[in-house]
Amino acid sequence: MSKVVVTRTVPESAVAVLREVAEVQVCDQDRPLTADELRAAVGGADGVVAMLHDRIDAEFVEAAGPQLEVVANVAVGFDNIDVPAVTGRGVTVTNTPGVLTDATADLAFGLLLSVTRRLGEAERLLRSRTPWNFHLGFMLGTGLQGKTLGIVGLGGIGQAVARRARAFGMHITYTGRRRAAQEVEAELEARYLPQDELLRTADVISLHCPLTESTRHLIDDAALDAMKSTAIVVNTSRGPIVDEKALAAALEGGRIGGAALDVFENEPDVDPGLLELDNVAIAPHLGSATTETRTAMAELAARNVAAVLTGQQPLTPVTT
Ligand code: DGY
Repeated sequence: MSKVVVTRTVPESAVAVLREVAEVQVCDQDRPLTADELRAAVGGADGVVAMLHDRIDAEFVEAAGPQLEVVANVAVGFDNIDVPAVTGRGVTVTNTPGVLTDATADLAFGLLLSVTRRLGEAERLLRSRTPWNFHLGFMLGTGLQGKTLGIVGLGGIGQAVARRARAFGMHITYTGRRRAAQEVEAELEARYLPQDELLRTADVISLHCPLTESTRHLIDDAALDAMKSTAIVVNTSRGPIVDEKALAAALEGGRIGGAALDVFENEPDVDPGLLELDNVAIAPHLGSATTETRTAMAELAARNVAAVLTGQQPLTPVTT
């Protein structure tokens, strides 16, 4: 019988899918495996269900052994995987697109509202038992209606964020490697702009591109300087797309208006400067963190493994 290693606890329904085709070993420690632990754990595996913190590269494949057929990442992002090195060794790589789109878009919008309506600050005020009373100038935020949302990467999640923004009365601009389909542009009334123009003109800039060598530090000092002094940066994609030190400095210096961050450059660490600022809403990488979504992600990863191990096509393969 085939052997599948799952590098971190997943919902039982996903394990059940795997058990139909393989003997399953779940690593149930309460932290990511170290690189050495990971390599030791996957020895002899035909399939691996991996997490976004697992580094999957040539050494990983060597450690697993020549029988390894598939690595299923329980994430839509796959920057933790050296895809050419792994697929080049005959191993299928899969991810979990689609099932987390709405949950991630909801969180992006929730964090955005948290900054613009000062919800974190308001909660901290009440929890610290600071005296307050209603008056017309008390804790004023900013409205989103009529403002422009600039989306970097109008893929599935970017589009889902844009739909929410439209419901809030926002205008949509976007940039990215390629133009969206005409129907998408028409539905969202989205205007394609070169990146520098989008950065200069948007009131909110929301990042939805994958982390690659060309998007690492896409938002750096120069990009932050190009933005409006009131601009808000939303990042629910991958931390290293933003130069976190440069962002903290821009926020501290009042060069931009705020930030809504679910992901960080060196997770689980967060730049201490960001933690001090009231105009920053932060969450610990919770984009897909609903019970329904995480279950769907794990089940999709399991179905990908089961498909490959039974000689069928994977449902959501990663190709480069
Ligand atoms: C992903 O899927 O890439 C998210 O970051 C975690 O859900």
